[in-house]
Amino acid sequence: MLTDALKERIAVDLDRARRRTQVLTEAVDDRDLVAQHSPLMSPLVWDLAHVGNQEELWLLRDVGGREPILPPAVDELYDAFQHPRADRPTLPLLDPVESRRYVSDVRGRVLDLLERVPLEGRPLLENGFAFGMIVQHEQQHDETMLATHQLRVGEPVLGAPPPPRVTSVSWPDEVLVPGGPFTMGTSTDAWALDNERPAHEVEVPAFMIDTVPVSNGDYLGFMADGGYDDPRWWDPKGWEHRLRAGLVAPLFWSRDGNEWVRRRFGHVEAVPFDEPVVHVSWYEADAYARWAGKRLPTEAEWEKAARFDPVSRRSRRFPWGDEDPTAEQTNLGQRHLQPASVGAYPVGASPLGVRQLIGDVWEWTSSDLSGYPGFRAWPYREYSEVFFGPDYKMLRGGSFATDAAACRGTFRNWDYPIRRQIFAGFRCARDVSAGEG
Ligand code: AVJ
Ligand code: FE
Repeated sequence: MLTDALKERIAVDLDRARRRTQVLTEAVDDRDLVAQHSPLMSPLVWDLAHVGNQEELWLLRDVGGREPILPPAVDELYDAFQHPRADRPTLPLLDPVESRRYVSDVRGRVLDLLERVPLEGRPLLENGFAFGMIVQHEQQHDETMLATHQLRVGEPVLGAPPPPRVTSVSWPDEVLVPGGPFTMGTSTDAWALDNERPAHEVEVPAFMIDTVPVSNGDYLGFMADGGYDDPRWWDPKGWEHRLRAGLVAPLFWSRDGNEWVRRRFGHVEAVPFDEPVVHVSWYEADAYARWAGKRLPTEAEWEKAARFDPVSRRSRRFPWGDEDPTAEQTNLGQRHLQPASVGAYPVGASPLGVRQLIGDVWEWTSSDLSGYPGFRAWPYREYSEVFFGPDYKMLRGGSFATDAAACRGTFRNWDYPIRRQIFAGFRCARDVSAGEG
C-alpha cells in the first residue's frame, strides 16, 4: 500500500477505535466508571488509561523516542502483569478527568508522529505494524469493556439496532471438509500478530462441521434432556466445575415461570431460540458436543473450514475471499449488541457453505494455546507466548463485539475453559464415518 493511503487507513482505524472507547466510557457516570462490576474485570477507567499507556509506550516512546508524558510510576499502574484485575480498583489510578486528558494527549501526539514518521526502516514500522498493533490493542480492550458492560447490573445505557433475522431460508446441517493439507496461519498479512505466524502446512483429515453455530434452541434441548446433570457428557474437570459453580444454564440466563429469560446489556428478554448460544464456557460447549454425538473442532479444522478454497487449494483471509469484511457478510464491530440469528449472512459463507464463521460469536475449539512451528515472540512475549500451555482453550472467528481490525481467518483468541463472560458460543464437528468421505 502507498504510504499516504496506509497512513490514511491507520488514522481512520485509530479514530474508529477511539470513538468506540468513548461510547463505552461515556455511557456511564464517573462512579460507574471507577467501580468494579465483576472481579473478572478491570474498572472501565483502568482499561481507558491502559489503552493510552500502551499507545504511549509503543508509539511515542519506542517508535518516536519521546520522553514519558506522566511520572514513571504511572506505567506500573497500567501494566497488566503487575496487578491482577481484582486488585485494580484499589490502585491510585488516574481519575476519569485525568484519564481522558491523558489518552487524548497521547493520541494528539501520535497523530503528529504518524504524519512525520517513515513507515519503513525498522521491522516495527514496516506496513505500519506498530500502529496496527495499537489499533488492535484498543479494539480488544473495547471488546473487554463491552463484556464489563454486560456484567454491570443496572438500566440499559447502550443502544444499537437489532441484527438481521433469517426466516425462511434453509441450509444443510453440516458439510464435509475434504481431507488433505492446507495452509494455516499467515506470513504475509501485514498486521497479523505473532501467534498467527508463520504460515505452515497442516494435514487435516476429512471431517464434518456444522453449517451454523449451535443455537439457544439447540442448547435448550441439551438442558431439557438433563445435560447439566449427566456426567457422561462432561470432561471430568468440567463436571467438577459444573458441580462447584452450580451451573444449570448459560451465564445471564434465569427462569421466569416456565420460560428462560436472559439479561442483555440491562434488558431482560425471552431467550431467542434461533440465536447462537453465547456466554457458555468451554466445558459447557464440550459437554453439549458430546451429548449431540459430536465434538468441538480443532483449531486447525476451524481454520480450514474458514479459509480453505477447495478449487484453488489456497487459504483465503476470510471465508468469502481476501477482501475486508462488509456489513452484508458479517456481524462485527458492535454495530449490534447481540449475534444475528443462525443462518444469517449467507454471502459471508465459506466456499463449502459454512456460515457465520466470522463475527456473531467467538467459537470455542478443542485446542490449547501454543505457537506454530517457527513461532517467534514479536514484539513482546507478554502478548501471547507467556500464556502458551494447556491452561487456555482457543477461540476463533470474532463476535459481534469484535472490530474488523482485530478479526480475520487467522486471528487467535484464548481464555480459561471455565470462563463465560466473553461473547463465546461454538459449533460442532465430527469425524467422517466410513462411506461418508
Ligand atoms: C488476546 C483477548 C486474550 O484481552 O487478555 C489486551 C488481548 N493483550 N491487552 C486479552 C490483550 C493485552 C488479550 N486476548
Ligand atoms: Fe492490554
